[in-house]
Amino acid sequence: MTNVMAPGRVPIAILISGRGTNMAALVRAAASGTLNADIRLVLSNKADAAGLEFADAAGIRTLVLSHRDFATREDYDRALVAHLREAGVQYVALAGFMRILTHEFLGPFAGRVINIHPAILPSFPGTHAQKQALDYGVKVSGCTVHFVDEGTDTGIIIAQQTVPVLDGDDEDSLSARILAQENELYPQALNDVLCGRISVVGRRTIRKS
Ligand code: GAR
Repeated sequence: MTNVMAPGRVPIAILISGRGTNMAALVRAAASGTLNADIRLVLSNKADAAGLEFADAAGIRTLVLSHRDFATREDYDRALVAHLREAGVQYVALAGFMRILTHEFLGPFAGRVINIHPAILPSFPGTHAQKQALDYGVKVSGCTVHFVDEGTDTGIIIAQQTVPVLDGDDEDSLSARILAQENELYPQALNDVLCGRISVVGRRTIRKS
């Protein structure tokens, strides 16, 4: 798979911590031309993140930057920024990156960090969102693509997609149904941002046609 480096594409990095299906969906979309991104770097805070193998095989530069090598969150975030700047990155897509980012990161990349979360925010932020949804007893859940701010999954919403919660669901079955939607929604929503189709008005985003 080639990461097409056409002029006009927006240089981005994707940050992961694990299996990386959302990262893979973004890589595939960039390769097929439906995501206007030049993916410069896939960075993981975990050396054993399975997604790194996929990115390597796709010919994308990968980097492991372990948070354990840094004394504070701020130190880690400053190192992240240095690596992303060195790679010429303008936008950052979080794809299962299980770290809370501080002002040291979000200052330099203000308004240019996007995340996907496996729930319909503002319900069920944080970890184990699918279990939170099941425990609460909701009948509909889904996923949210949002800009990242300094809160936990509190940033401005870009796009959402719902899925039903079925009577027989457990955490695995609901997570799989949501993940299938995540893998479709993330490339589309990120592409809208990178193509300048999203305007922010107060807390609302409006998609220009
Ligand atoms: C996805 O479900 C993503 O929404 C979630 O982690 C999973 C990563 O899967 N992220 C969060 O919960 C962030 N709060 P992936 O590694 O296969 O993309």
